[in-house]
Amino acid sequence: MNPQIAVLGCGTMAGAIVSGLLAAGTDPSRIVATARSSATRQRVAETLGVAALTDNRKAVRGADIVLIGVKPAMAAAVASEIAEDLDPQVVVISIAAGVTTQTLQAALAPSGGRPVVRVMPNTPVKVGRGTFIVSPAAGAEQAGEQVIALLDPLGTVVEVPEKLHDAATAISGSGPAYVFLVAEAMIDAGVAMGVPRAQATELTVATLAGSAELMASSGEHPAVLRGAVTSPGGTTAAALDQLESHGLRTAFARALEACRDKAARLS
Ligand SMILES: NC(=O)c1ccc[n+]([C@@H]2O[C@H](COP(=O)([O-])OP(=O)(O)OC[C@H]3O[C@@H](n4cnc5c(N)ncnc54)[C@H](OP(=O)(O)O)[C@@H]3O)[C@@H](O)[C@H]2O)c1
Repeated sequence: MNPQIAVLGCGTMAGAIVSGLLAAGTDPSRIVATARSSATRQRVAETLGVAALTDNRKAVRGADIVLIGVKPAMAAAVASEIAEDLDPQVVVISIAAGVTTQTLQAALAPSGGRPVVRVMPNTPVKVGRGTFIVSPAAGAEQAGEQVIALLDPLGTVVEVPEKLHDAATAISGSGPAYVFLVAEAMIDAGVAMGVPRAQATELTVATLAGSAELMASSGEHPAVLRGAVTSPGGTTAAALDQLESHGLRTAFARALEACRDKAARLS
């Protein structure tokens, strides 16, 4: 598989995906990107080494895969703009939060039927550790397989039915922000107790990275790993007691529901 890929709206997230594809061996000549401003186009051409245009319609000619990377409010308009220029078998990927495959299919061809696949990436794609949620439209299962194969070298790919796409987005699409907030809170708490900020930051970042690696490589449930750090009546138990009594679990439950519901309102 050596598809020609058009990336419409090569901003922060789509640019990170392009960077990952190039690192995974895609030839830069197989990718054409677009952006609105000349500043972004210049940055894309210089940093990624792919062709960067303004014209979405021109960019999709000859493409096998089209990735729509614009903001959610623009996604359907960009799909309508390119509809007439796509061959029938072209796979359309959208990373726009909240925009359904139904909305995109209607914009691409009012008669329906185009293979559309929703994908939700996250920012660790910038370091080759992205997490991608993949939800093909009804009838686009084969396109879904193609998209999974394309993204597999860029990190972890999890396919979910589209009805769970927004809920899954609340876990991994927005998830890095929760982790960074937890990091900030741990650093600030350390600083408040007198640990110098540089050391509090180093300890926090190394602890989060090491714990994530331990979780991923051991395959153990997080509760088992937490139990292993928690001696009865000990220091960690005292800390966890405070986190639980200040409603950590409830805060996460309400936060992820709010994220899911906000995504549903974007479509
Ligand atoms: N950031 C994240 O963590 C994240 C995570 C998951 C999913 N997403 C999704 O990724 C999408 C993009 O987010 P982002 O943060 O990457 O935004 P961004 O950096 O603003 O990228 C959007 C890009 O689209 C370009 N653009 C706007 N209108 C266009 C048009 N009509 N034709 C072609 N290009 C156009 C912009 O060009 P200019 O730069 O020239 O204005 C910009 O480069 C969103 O739909 C979002 O839901 C983002």
